[in-house]
Amino acid sequence: MSEEFSKAYWEQRWEQVCRDHAAAVHGRGPNPQLVVEAGDLAPGTALDAGCGHGADAIWLASRGWRVTAVDIATTALRRAHEHAETLGADITSRIDWVQADLTTWAPAEEHFDLVSTHYVHPAAAPEALLRRLAAAVAPGGTLLVVGHHPADPPTTDGHAPPHEACFTAEEAAAGLDPDRWAIVVAESRPRQATGPHGHESTLHDSVLRARKRP
Ligand SMILES: C[S@@+](CC[C@H](N)C(=O)[O-])C[C@H]1O[C@@H](n2cnc3c(N)ncnc32)[C@H](O)[C@@H]1O
Repeated sequence: MSEEFSKAYWEQRWEQVCRDHAAAVHGRGPNPQLVVEAGDLAPGTALDAGCGHGADAIWLASRGWRVTAVDIATTALRRAHEHAETLGADITSRIDWVQADLTTWAPAEEHFDLVSTHYVHPAAAPEALLRRLAAAVAPGGTLLVVGHHPADPPTTDGHAPPHEACFTAEEAAAGLDPDRWAIVVAESRPRQATGPHGHESTLHDSVLRARKRP
């Protein structure tokens, strides 16, 4: 992994975010693409890869999913766990918080009914990460990958993902064997984003939703 997106980088980033933007972090809801794409799925087992502040994992657990939420940053996991605990045993009992580096951690193969990952941009081998996440989906299960579109301009807050970690949905879909996968959604979707100084801009999510053939 490059120095820039090391564990130390993410720990520092989350410490800063939790310190300077505590209220915003606390109020963050689930990612809109997750709500759209997973809202119609029957709950089962889910992996949230790169869970950050935990809003997606908490949303899934509140809908009855049994969630494994993985992140490299213990600071983010602590914050996520604390937030989940305020929501009661119903939520906390359904989430396992796991500290692991997704560039080396291999989830159990064919295990999860849903594998969801949003905006994780490891500086090393994103294709290999996608392959491991795809392998973790159970037959009949769903893979949801959301990332930054490479055509978006670099952000000015100094935390832009490296260009090589951005991808189109079509590029992500090309990594899936068509004999094993049915592509449900592969498209770019606009999203309104608020920058650190309050300015609004339109960004684009690359959204891949695929179903592993039973
Ligand atoms: C941009 S944030 C997105 C967080 C969350 N998925 C969301 O959509 O709000 C990227 C997250 O991925 C985590 N992350 C980055 N590289 C990772 C790695 N190699 N292994 C595990 N987690 C990683 C970071 O700590 C961070 O929480």
